[in-house]
Amino acid sequence: MKLFDPFNLKGLELSSRIAMAPLTRRRANRAHDPVDCMATYYAQRANCGLIIAEGTSPSPNGVGYSNMPGLYTSHHVKLWKNITDSVHKSGGKIVLQIMHTGRIGHSNNLPDGARIIGPSAIAKKGDTTTYDLGKQPFTMPNEMGTDEVQTTIREFADCAKLAIQAGFDGIEIHSAHGYLPNQFLNQSSNKRKDQYGGNRENRIRFLLEVIQASIQAIGSEKVALRISPFSYADIDEDEGELIALYKMLAEELNQFNLSYLHLSHMGDAKPVKFELWKKLRSIYSGNLMLCGDFTKDTAELALQNGDADLIAFGRDFISNPDLVERLKNNWPLAERDRTHWYTQGPQGLTDYPVYNSMLHK
Ligand code: PHB
Repeated sequence: MKLFDPFNLKGLELSSRIAMAPLTRRRANRAHDPVDCMATYYAQRANCGLIIAEGTSPSPNGVGYSNMPGLYTSHHVKLWKNITDSVHKSGGKIVLQIMHTGRIGHSNNLPDGARIIGPSAIAKKGDTTTYDLGKQPFTMPNEMGTDEVQTTIREFADCAKLAIQAGFDGIEIHSAHGYLPNQFLNQSSNKRKDQYGGNRENRIRFLLEVIQASIQAIGSEKVALRISPFSYADIDEDEGELIALYKMLAEELNQFNLSYLHLSHMGDAKPVKFELWKKLRSIYSGNLMLCGDFTKDTAELALQNGDADLIAFGRDFISNPDLVERLKNNWPLAERDRTHWYTQGPQGLTDYPVYNSMLHK
């Protein structure tokens, strides 16, 4: 078995090749402050190889979801430090996913003075939960000026710095699932006329500059990237165009000594996904993490075949704090019960039993 082997991630010693994927849990308070029960939640899961903490905004403009945490003030640093300390005390490793929601959000969820922004004034279809107005359609984004694009790049890098101050072992830039950097990559959400829109090279520019600025801030071995070429609700991008875009991106990424590249897929898997994943594996020379409903067997197979170096498990980590032990021992997994996935407080966050305690009841 490879899954349970230690792995050296650019100097960070992981106890196994199992990562906990970033999972939206919406436990932060209205000011987007992380709260204490999150320390318990992550510490309970610290025996996996690497925790990727939930998507966290680098900017007041990027907290488009209610109760999503942020990391852009010294107060946030203090609160997150409490969480990283509890993970480290439990022997774990934890990186922060930096997630700017861009156009996927609602203005009612933002702090005073912040605004919903995107590469172009094109609204995302669908709706989202708000603090005061119930479910609402996504807000029409304000098209970012070129200066604002550059300010936002700075915000990612500043957040990376704060993450290190807060005790994180590194960061993962979220450019998957339609969030801000992904909005620049896709033609359907990016109709810009400046150097950040138009041809592939221009649409990739925002992401590459975010990566470069983050590397300058904290060092390349602490910076990772998540992408999802075929997992983007609401948009029908041309398949051939996507393949060409992501091949170009993977080639560009070889110039950086990133911690890892994370390929994610949510929802129905298309056969083309697997072909592109293999293609990206052959182009990209660094560490590769895959995520998308893996089981112990399919994860092991991917590692044995050389398709990946690390495997991330997502939703199974919610109700199985001891997921690694359960996989190792072939114990059954607890059900995925969505009732408390996105509610407030510790219920459904920290109250899932480990398998052994159930045996001895
Ligand atoms: C979500 O909250 O639905 C969500 C957040 C981040 C993702 C994907 C989905 O990457």
